[in-house]
Amino acid sequence: MAKILVIDSSVRFNSSTSRELTGILADRIKGDANEVIHRDLTRGIHFISEQSLNSVEKLLEERTVEENELAALSDSLIEELELADYLIIGAPMYNFGPPASLKAWADLVARVKRTFEYTDNGPVGLLRNKKAFVVVVTGGTGVNSNIDFMTPWLRHFLAFIGITNVEIISADGVYGNDGEEKIKFAKEKIGSLII
Ligand SMILES: Cc1cc2nc3c(=O)[nH]c(=O)nc-3n(C[C@H](O)[C@H](O)[C@H](O)COP(=O)(O)O)c2cc1C
Repeated sequence: MAKILVIDSSVRFNSSTSRELTGILADRIKGDANEVIHRDLTRGIHFISEQSLNSVEKLLEERTVEENELAALSDSLIEELELADYLIIGAPMYNFGPPASLKAWADLVARVKRTFEYTDNGPVGLLRNKKAFVVVVTGGTGVNSNIDFMTPWLRHFLAFIGITNVEIISADGVYGNDGEEKIKFAKEKIGSLII
């Protein structure tokens, strides 16, 4: 049984294109047998702080109760990432980059000796054998255009932690005249994926 981790970050719930597409994709991969774990980054995510960074650097047995609480979210996010075979990230573009919650997630899961390490040859990602799908939705900005600071960043970040098998599914320009077409293409792409 494969584990599918779905990460949503749109602040919209009722009319979110990225949530709709990550849902369709998760159903597609899930089939009859696989397990879906859902992480909604608009609920319960905090930004890192000096205290939370100090806490995660300590071994479990060395942490105080308060430090354990501060490290708990980062610990859980890393654990669910380590356990996942498939990762589906809903990435609506906000101001040419990712939503703040998605950046906060990256800050929380990038941990030395867990998800990456420094070697004589530079940083090496420690996550292995995962396939990631990134669902990019924008109002008008072209994916991979010179003002898209989200897609290249996400690709780079995922590679940094060891996830290099990444497929981008995009509906860019949903507010344009052909917005509905773009969404239709994204759904067709999901339907035709070889999983
Ligand atoms: C705060 C905010 C900032 C946005 N910034 C951009 C942007 O820089 N470029 C763009 O093309 N669309 C931008 N949009 C439009 C969203 O990308 C668009 O609404 C998309 O559908 C969001 O995904 P969702 O439907 O899953 O919420 C922005 C929307 C919001 C709410």
